[in-house]
Amino acid sequence: MPVSREQLMDKIVALTKRRGFLYPSSEIYGGISGFYDYGPYGVAMKRAIRDLWWRHMVELRDDVVGLESTLIMPSEVWAASGHLTNFVDPLRQCLGECKKRWRADHVLGDRCPECGGPLDDARMFNLMFKTHVGPVEDRASEVYLRPETAQGMFVDFKNVVNSTRVRVPFGIAQQGRAFRNEITPGNFIFRVREFELMEMEYFVRPHHDEEAFDYWRKERLRWYTDVLGVKRERLRMYDHPKESLSHYSKQTTDIEYEFPFGWGELEGIANRTDFDLTVHQERSKQDLTYMDPETNERYLPWVIEPAVGADRVLITLLLDAYDEDVVNNEPRVVLRLHPNVAPVQVAVVPLSKKQELIDVAQRVQQSLRGQFRVEYDQTGGNIGRRYRRQDEIGTPFCITVDFDTLQDEAVTIRLRDTTEQERVKIAALPERLVTLTS
Ligand code: GAP
Repeated sequence: MPVSREQLMDKIVALTKRRGFLYPSSEIYGGISGFYDYGPYGVAMKRAIRDLWWRHMVELRDDVVGLESTLIMPSEVWAASGHLTNFVDPLRQCLGECKKRWRADHVLGDRCPECGGPLDDARMFNLMFKTHVGPVEDRASEVYLRPETAQGMFVDFKNVVNSTRVRVPFGIAQQGRAFRNEITPGNFIFRVREFELMEMEYFVRPHHDEEAFDYWRKERLRWYTDVLGVKRERLRMYDHPKESLSHYSKQTTDIEYEFPFGWGELEGIANRTDFDLTVHQERSKQDLTYMDPETNERYLPWVIEPAVGADRVLITLLLDAYDEDVVNNEPRVVLRLHPNVAPVQVAVVPLSKKQELIDVAQRVQQSLRGQFRVEYDQTGGNIGRRYRRQDEIGTPFCITVDFDTLQDEAVTIRLRDTTEQERVKIAALPERLVTLTS
């Protein structure tokens, strides 16, 4: 049953809170705008997203290596990268009743969208969070929490080249927290102030950028459709016009998703040229050039960068999967998540609380644990209610242990999407689930 786009976000916000995916951060103290905590199912799902990204960007390839750099880096890094001067948004504040602050490019005209009061002139606001290292809070001790993970990969470029056997073209990938003091966080976890970035810098020979750019555009789109199961018709590629490019980019394509509030950026794929290595070489006065053993040339490689936030992937998957239908004359809410990303892949449910059934169900559960994300559910309520609870968190398979199991050593697999059921021998269960999952 189609769910109205207007209501969809509200329903997801309510479901994720009710079912333990996401909570407002520090809620008992009134919360803090733009920050969210991940509950048990949210964590499981976010970890799955990160693992699938790492698997496809690093482990399944022989040309990409990983890195974990620090969240705090010296100010020189951000001076060199241009973030100190360019990582800014235009800010306007209401001079009327509500005093609300707005991103100037998000409001039309000179009146506050909230209370209709006049807005002041736009001024530039840097989005980086500042703090100090050491006990003295002076200019010299100022540092910033990273707004992107990318700079760690540029600053460590020479270390990676010197300590491993990578050869251009190759990539360095990193996942980790990034912090942005967004003027207007919103649309739930679409725009937050602390989030998990997943970025890869792919180094190529100078001017060999076009081919790599095209390759990564296609490859990244494929990840969403084939690995995460996002509906193709809700995705599109958006090529940025020259005037809207970031300060470091020659060319950027966004993979966009059709969110309830309109098309929005899911992932950015940028052609950063040799911008970053050049500025770091200049400022650090270190030689960051690469000696190409094939061409015998020394150069600063160019860079293609796919970058995406895990939180934004998660909200996309939830919105994409949400559905309401009717089963046995009863309405149900169901998250049609791909088994790869479902927080629980298999729920094991004994039909009743009889000890014989519990014993078998726990044995089944143990045999699947480690291979799948498994939940054991013997809580009260009839079996239908338990199925519906699993539907609501997106569990693709429920395994029911019933009285026949005691005779035939077989269980029922109940499929979330069709609610169809099939009988399978316990011994054949893991193999059958692998087939159904892939
Ligand atoms: N190093 C390039 C870079 O950081 P970006 O377009 O600013 O590029 C990359 O960010 C991705 O990070 C976005 O496509 C989006 O998925 C995610 N992202 C950016 N800002 C975010 C925010 N405030 N909250 C959640 N995710 C965000």
